[in-house]
Amino acid sequence: MKKTVNTFQKLKNNDEKIAMLTAYDYSTAKILGEAEIDGILVGDSLAMVALGYESTYNITIDEMLIFVSAVARGAKNSFIIGDMPFMSYNLSVEQGLENAGKMIKSGANAVKIEGCNEHILTLTKRLVESGIPVLAHLGLTPQLLNSLGGYKIQGKTAEQVEYILECAKKLQEAGAFAVVLELIPAESAEFITNNLDIPTIGIGAGVGCSGQIVVTDDILGKFTDFAPKFVKKFANLHNIMLEGVKKYSKEVKDCEFPSNKESFELNENEKEKLGVRGKL
Ligand code: KIV
Repeated sequence: MKKTVNTFQKLKNNDEKIAMLTAYDYSTAKILGEAEIDGILVGDSLAMVALGYESTYNITIDEMLIFVSAVARGAKNSFIIGDMPFMSYNLSVEQGLENAGKMIKSGANAVKIEGCNEHILTLTKRLVESGIPVLAHLGLTPQLLNSLGGYKIQGKTAEQVEYILECAKKLQEAGAFAVVLELIPAESAEFITNNLDIPTIGIGAGVGCSGQIVVTDDILGKFTDFAPKFVKKFANLHNIMLEGVKKYSKEVKDCEFPSNKESFELNENEKEKLGVRGKL
């Protein structure tokens, strides 16, 4: 059954956790769909993880759309959220509406937007009114990395926690269906979660959130450039892939691959005409 925006609130109301992951391509999305993950985020983390950029600043809306449509083709029954990249919504509400519309036309069911200033609140309201569900994102917001001065834990004082909660409440009021809380002490995130009606989705924010999201390539051990403390490895795809690639390379060099099993044979008559005996 197709997961929808209602799945999130239903899970929160039933006290069930929400499991989300990122995907950037068709085949990964297919696996996540088969696993019936509650939501798939086509995160702007793909700038670093899939494209090798230094940060999320480099990715454009047009690049994001290619990945969103690939994921949508791979996971037809999943709820897919397109991450609005840096400067694709910051200039004006009209710009945000237009680019969020492109996300939906490319197959996303919702968009994610970082922050909570007046512009973001207005944009969230307008998007929701236009039929585009919004996943908010507070705490460490990577698109503000230059202003925050790096990957720093947020919500470390009671005052900061109150501020994040106030932002989350405004976003809830504006119509956001859930809010990502990134890099926040577990107790702070739990306090925020307990004071909201909409679900919270934690990343580095402890078990008290309504659900969790992590980068798939991190937890499956495929992306190894860096590993934040909040990442747990559930598989080691890097080693599995490396082993497979080495085996392939050796078999090619030793003329073991392709064998007859992976080859096509020419008909005997045609071989005769070419004067070829036995195998080519
Ligand atoms: O870009 C991303 O992958 C994110 C996280 C919340 C996982 O924003």
